[in-house]
Amino acid sequence: MFKRFRRVRINKTIRELAEETRLDIKDFIYPLFIKEGRGERKEVVSMPGVFQMSIDEALKECEELLGLGINKIVLFGIPETKDSIGSDALSDEGIIAKAIRAIKKHFGQNMLVITDLCFCEYTDHGHCGILDLELGSVDNDATLEITARQALVHANAGVDMIAPSGMMDGAVETIREALDGAGFVNLPIMSYSTKFASAYYGPFRDVAESAPSFGDRKSYQMNPANRREALAESLEDEAQGADILMIKPALAYLDIVREIRDATLLPICVYNVSGEYSMLKFAANAGIIDYDKVLMETMVSFKRAGADMIISYHAKDVAKLLKGGNS
Ligand code: PBG
Ligand code: ZN
Repeated sequence: MFKRFRRVRINKTIRELAEETRLDIKDFIYPLFIKEGRGERKEVVSMPGVFQMSIDEALKECEELLGLGINKIVLFGIPETKDSIGSDALSDEGIIAKAIRAIKKHFGQNMLVITDLCFCEYTDHGHCGILDLELGSVDNDATLEITARQALVHANAGVDMIAPSGMMDGAVETIREALDGAGFVNLPIMSYSTKFASAYYGPFRDVAESAPSFGDRKSYQMNPANRREALAESLEDEAQGADILMIKPALAYLDIVREIRDATLLPICVYNVSGEYSMLKFAANAGIIDYDKVLMETMVSFKRAGADMIISYHAKDVAKLLKGGNS
């Protein structure tokens, strides 16, 4: 006697009934790259369909997103001037503070605004914090001090959630204390809790103009070979007070997503990163894959692995496909 699995696959309706995992546009967060100026909208060669935008253009983009059912965004700032400590990120008149205020003013609670909290887009050396020249890397504890200050800049501008991405030890605890001390007890932290030192970030660094001018990020981001440490990193951020955990990149790390899912009760986000996006876009443009189908198969794999939410440059395409009933 053998089992006939195809009984529940035999037609579309019964397949629907037996479907275990489903995509919902409500689970998606769309990244926006904000620069100074007016009327600026510049496509990035390495990421077709992704633009650097001035604030006025970002407001138009938000209208479009809401029309597609996307009401969660994560902001990255591209400042006009960079320096050794990323001062633009510490100013209430910096690009990100201005962007938060403008978007919240126009859209209020209709658009959930998350900020990526890091320094690599703001420093002239492109590293994620203050350098310790003797160490030849980022000074963890000095960076924590400016991390707290950056968090308060975002909070004062009206952000809805802060997402620290620098992989500094103690960042979540530092930010939580700073926020609570200033009365922002209800402002959640989504930690990039398990973030690998990945070559999949390549195209992002073109968009965000944040490539390190020397060396790499291996002394603060994780070794892709390490599974136990990946788990420990996320559990530590939970202990420090993170409200949502994140695994990044997504596709090459679905085993890690599953393990963290099984080890925590917190919500889990995956970041479907720039390199993952560009691989699909360029393969599609070359006529090698059926983009729509590969896209949806990829997205459902994240949820099947245990992610509750997905940050993705594909979110607008996903929205259109879901609207068309093409899931
Ligand atoms: C900033 C940051 C990076 C990404 C998100 N936040 C770049 C990096 O760590 O080098 C990568 C996102 C992507 O590749 O899409 N630290
Ligand atoms: Zn960084």
